[in-house]
Amino acid sequence: MGDTARAYDLGFRSLEEREERRDHRLDVDGSIPGWLDGALIRNGPGSFAFGDDRATHWFDGLAMVRRYGFEDGTVRYTNRFLRTDAYADAQHGVTAGEFATTGGLLNQIRRWVGALGPPPATDNANVHVARVGDHYVALTEAPRRIAFDPDTLATRGEFRWTDDLPEHMATAHLAVDPIRRETIGYSLTFGRTPQYHLYRVPFGTARREHVATVDAEGPGYVHDCAVTGHYVVLVEPPLRISILRALAPWGEGMLDAFEYDADRPARFLVVDRYTGNVVADRHTPAFFVFHHVNAFEDGDDVVVDLVGYEDAEIVDALSFDVLSGDAFAAAPPGRLDRFRLPLEDGGVQRSRRYDGGLELPTVPRAVRGRRYRYAYAQATDREGANGLLKVDVEEQTAVEWWQRGVYVEEPRMVQRPDADREDDGVVLAPALHTGEERSVLLVFDAETLTERARAPLPHAVPFGFHGRYFPELDG
Ligand SMILES: [Fe+2]
Repeated sequence: MGDTARAYDLGFRSLEEREERRDHRLDVDGSIPGWLDGALIRNGPGSFAFGDDRATHWFDGLAMVRRYGFEDGTVRYTNRFLRTDAYADAQHGVTAGEFATTGGLLNQIRRWVGALGPPPATDNANVHVARVGDHYVALTEAPRRIAFDPDTLATRGEFRWTDDLPEHMATAHLAVDPIRRETIGYSLTFGRTPQYHLYRVPFGTARREHVATVDAEGPGYVHDCAVTGHYVVLVEPPLRISILRALAPWGEGMLDAFEYDADRPARFLVVDRYTGNVVADRHTPAFFVFHHVNAFEDGDDVVVDLVGYEDAEIVDALSFDVLSGDAFAAAPPGRLDRFRLPLEDGGVQRSRRYDGGLELPTVPRAVRGRRYRYAYAQATDREGANGLLKVDVEEQTAVEWWQRGVYVEEPRMVQRPDADREDDGVVLAPALHTGEERSVLLVFDAETLTERARAPLPHAVPFGFHGRYFPELDG
């Protein structure tokens, strides 16, 4: 474990409750535009400690929500652990993991296939956030959501849907369609025939409406989805959730229930958002995907851009076991791949849009589900850094920003109000600065990726996953 190679270990170091901050004004080096008036709320692990034990996978840390509130060129930082059952258990040394660490989601599967008594699904909602009606909720893939106060981040308690839409496994990625003013999500049920259940949540409501139910093939591990004007796109990779392996007594976590079968195809499902009809169900040679970049309709074609991997090695690569021996650089890179599905003619055409390593992609809210030009992402193929990347998906060119020792997390692009260009705005990205042993919030010009401002945090925050910018919130 060399000192320099392990500098980013700070990104896996636990914070403690006494390190929570509330409305902590950050010093700003540079300038944050005055029009930026809202809050970036992100989710991710805050601690990996369960008594004397430690989570074995990055995905299993205890949820801590972080907030960056912007107003008049200033930024204020708040971080707060969700006060969940998992959090309370952790204080007594009980692991509440869901992905690799024993318990949680795996137990949920066991419960649903009737093999185990009912330990409840974990409420450690550490992956993403969303707005549902007037509720701000933290999400994970177990079917439990935790509501929090969007200003103070105080935990409000469990958010429960009032419908009876079945879900044994949920998604943390709800796809927001700002044009049709609804949010799209899906769940997975096991049982004799595993199925995906697609739903919509109209803006202004906290009510799910069933869109379609489609039989699963693996069932595959579907982490994210994409929408176009008319369709929802699910990609089912051949990373199967093996019910048999989930049942095995030696199963140590969700990871052990996964089986990657490179001989099986990946599957694209295109579902009409309004009729619920499956308009395309196509197979293409195996690959793995966590995250979609965007999707849109191009004439009679559906175009889906995503971060594709050659296989599912990345899932194992992100565990601490592997991370303790290698740098991020050793993780297999994801590439920006475009899949074109001609609805009339059949087939799936694959082409590469950007060949460097990237993850945690995002596009401006205004172009989600529509033809677009620019994707922003974390650049993962730098040694001693994770950079920021802007890909022009039409021209297939890219602009990069990186700095040695700085590990950029998921970027979020925020357009300037009245923007007349897609890339008129800023990119917000927290990052770990290993040299200063703390995290910093970085603000970039979205056109050039020039750094505009840098605001150091009072501590190093563990690497997080996903967040959203909420313009309606006060800075
Ligand atoms: Fe994700």
